[in-house]
Amino acid sequence: NQKHIVVVGSCMIDFVSYAPRLPGPGETIHGTKFATNFGGKGANQCIAAAKLGGRNYACRQGTNPFETPYKSFSCIIFQVGDDIWGKKYIESLKNDGIRVDYVEETEGVSTGIAQIIVSDAGENQIVIVAGANLRLSVQDVGTAKDVIADAAIVVLQLETPVEVAIETLRLCKGISILNGAPAIAQFDPELLTLPSIFCVNEPEATVFTGLPVNNKSEAETAAIKLLSMGCKSVIITLGAAGALYVSNEDKQFVHVCSPSVKCVDSTGAGDAFIGALAYLLANRKDLGIERALLYACMIAADSVTRPGTQISFPGPEILKQVV
Ligand code: RIB
Ligand code: NA
Repeated sequence: NQKHIVVVGSCMIDFVSYAPRLPGPGETIHGTKFATNFGGKGANQCIAAAKLGGRNYACRQGTNPFETPYKSFSCIIFQVGDDIWGKKYIESLKNDGIRVDYVEETEGVSTGIAQIIVSDAGENQIVIVAGANLRLSVQDVGTAKDVIADAAIVVLQLETPVEVAIETLRLCKGISILNGAPAIAQFDPELLTLPSIFCVNEPEATVFTGLPVNNKSEAETAAIKLLSMGCKSVIITLGAAGALYVSNEDKQFVHVCSPSVKCVDSTGAGDAFIGALAYLLANRKDLGIERALLYACMIAADSVTRPGTQISFPGPEILKQVV
């Protein structure tokens, strides 16, 4: 009896170079391996949730999402370019058993791409060129307003236009999770007031608050500032140190630890966390926020033990281990 999750956001083709360490400015270093993966925070979060148990559908402008014969699903609203990568992305979704008849191919733009470097320590550096993702519009979201309003959970990021996020949040009647990634320093203050949960990592928390966030106690200070900026509740993910949650209702911190694992590639760990959290909040209300956060951390930790993003996210078998 899974509840449906809607992701309004991005998809990118990830060009990943593995190297002993991250290069400095102006420096050329030898890498050891190259891979092309399907990524983008929106699609990653959708696939993370879907792999845990949902079927997966893609929605686009001009279709009635209620015509899809779903009982439970994760739905993504996104744009690809009319290039080889957009076609490959659609093919990959097909191979994953995902409906692709709703994916929008926009003429004259390139599919979003991400240049990623992953070091031996599992750290990464990412530059995205969002391309078609920036064409996702308020109109696209308006066309999907019924499926958004009907969702148990709506998940958003900032690789697509901010006004799309704001419009989606206005239409959402369930729980909304805004992942403030990539972070932006200038924004409509309403952005932070709309989502049920605002989730960022430490460097993103710094951009949004202007405060240093390098440890748990600085993260607590930043989280309180985010509440004062209008957030209803805040999650700051702390990498290997787990995650922190605080809500405006009681201002009590919840801190969960992450299991220690051998990190091979931390790319998309935040996406695994958010997808898992969305899945658990939709399907396991009985867990409560603390256990949902703990299990989301365990699922994200599991994902960093394998290279890549979507391909590294665990399937439903992980739920037997953690939940
Ligand atoms: O969060 C990881 C993702 O960020 C990568 O898949 C890359 O596409 C960038 O969007
Ligand atoms: Na991974």
